[in-house]
Amino acid sequence: MTFGPAAVPAASRTVGEGSEEVSPVRVLVTYVSPDGSTRGVAERVAQRLRETAVRVDCAPVHDVRGVGDYDGVVVGSALHGRAWLPEAADFLSVHAGDLVVRPVWLFSVGMPGALARPLRTLAMREGPLAVAPYVELVRPRGTRLFSGVVSKQQFPAVSRLVLRLMGARFGDFRRWPDIDAWADEIAHGLAESVRGPHAS
Ligand SMILES: Cc1cc2nc3c(=O)[nH]c(=O)nc-3n(C[C@H](O)[C@H](O)[C@H](O)COP(=O)(O)O)c2cc1C
Repeated sequence: MTFGPAAVPAASRTVGEGSEEVSPVRVLVTYVSPDGSTRGVAERVAQRLRETAVRVDCAPVHDVRGVGDYDGVVVGSALHGRAWLPEAADFLSVHAGDLVVRPVWLFSVGMPGALARPLRTLAMREGPLAVAPYVELVRPRGTRLFSGVVSKQQFPAVSRLVLRLMGARFGDFRRWPDIDAWADEIAHGLAESVRGPHAS
């Protein structure tokens, strides 16, 4: 299945509380997720946005043809080697012209939650570093690093051993309340951009 650009009437937009529904705000949540946990984060963000009267498509980047008819776009990538995956970076490059003129949010999913404290602090810094190459390109309204699922099956034996020696744990480190709270920030940002920052 491919998404957008489909015709979306933009006569009157609604998002968040207290607005009259005529034509819903449309948002795309798209992601690259080799092992599935980034997809889980994306789907959770999408679900939360739907609760605020936003119409949301949620799909992997390779299913997205265009972003031109969305009012906002959320893009997420798993971190590999401290960077976004090439498919996610390519998505931002290919659609940069359409992304830079609409509200965009970027999220990364990595493994800080799996690490012991000193290393976790270092791993948290990878969030801003990983999205730094795209900040000028698409001027995101917000960026966030979440912890994902870290499982033995993802890594070859040598890497597993190194992770063990570093005191890493395996498991699902996604913190759903944090993810919901970020989705709520996005809903708030969308409401502002649709109404205009000075509307009452
Ligand atoms: C080959 C490989 C490299 C990784 N490199 C990083 C990294 O540099 N930084 C990090 O925080 N997590 C790293 N991780 C952990 C993943 O980002 C984490 O498991 C994430 O939840 C994977 O998302 P996914 O399930 O959507 O693929 C790496 C995982 C793999 C398999």
